[in-house]
Amino acid sequence: MSVSSLGYVVIETRDLAAWREFGTQILGTMEAASDDPEVLLLRIDDRPFRFWIRKGDREAFCAPAWEFASKQEFDVAVARLAAAGRPVDHAGIMEARARKVYELVRSSDPCGNPFEIFYGRFYDYQPFVSPAAVSRFVTGDNGDMGLGHVVLTAPAFETTHAFYKEVLGFRDTDLGRFFLAGGGPDDAGIGFAFMHARNGRHHSLALGQMPESPNGAVHMMLEVGTLEDVGRAYDRVLKTKGKIQVSATLGRHVNDKMTSFYMRTPGGFDIEYGWNGLVIDPATWVPTTSLGVSDWGHKWAHEKDD
Ligand SMILES: [Fe+2]
Repeated sequence: MSVSSLGYVVIETRDLAAWREFGTQILGTMEAASDDPEVLLLRIDDRPFRFWIRKGDREAFCAPAWEFASKQEFDVAVARLAAAGRPVDHAGIMEARARKVYELVRSSDPCGNPFEIFYGRFYDYQPFVSPAAVSRFVTGDNGDMGLGHVVLTAPAFETTHAFYKEVLGFRDTDLGRFFLAGGGPDDAGIGFAFMHARNGRHHSLALGQMPESPNGAVHMMLEVGTLEDVGRAYDRVLKTKGKIQVSATLGRHVNDKMTSFYMRTPGGFDIEYGWNGLVIDPATWVPTTSLGVSDWGHKWAHEKDD
């Protein structure tokens, strides 16, 4: 039993128009018809939506939604959540129908990061066309690699890391520990865990042993089809003359080989926009330990010039 992929994300905003403009003009996602004027839906592939953005009174990343391939696996996950003492909040039938899934349960991890789980692979057969001429978003064959990845904070790192593996079936791809407090025997280090679901994406979820993010997530990642797609998106961000902030310059990660940059969303968290991420065989992968973050680039906006 394991999560098959990152299905969609739930975001809350005071300003749907800002997200609509950011989503369509900067990211190049496609707006989908929504039955609710208070909900903005954005597509990146054949799925009815990959972003569920609702109007509310805060700017936040609310929840990733983890997809299961069958009702059987979904039911096992629900039972494990209950056994682990985590909340199990079954959405009503009309709410699940609005999400275009068969069943939906809301829960949270031991650090209190909310998430949703669901099963039911719904399709929108209206062709995906990017309003910003992005060639394509990489979600795998029939979307099996999911939307991308999400990085969450986990101050209670060990417990939360174990929870995602034992309760939701994630597996380790790459583990890191950075010793910033002197590096002596008493320095426990700061943990990072990059985990894969049952698909070839290097990681669908990463946890960082960091204080809770005020915006609900550290970042999420979208992967596009070509390096030119990344470069053109970088140009679109620069053209806003700072209205959309570059959080990290172009660079390449060592562990998932992603060539990417980071931008600040209207929600206050970042989106990594990348190309050419490593595809692994989840059945045979042996976890690695990376000693660094990036081969080159990825200079963060908060870093001082050197
Ligand atoms: Fe990332």
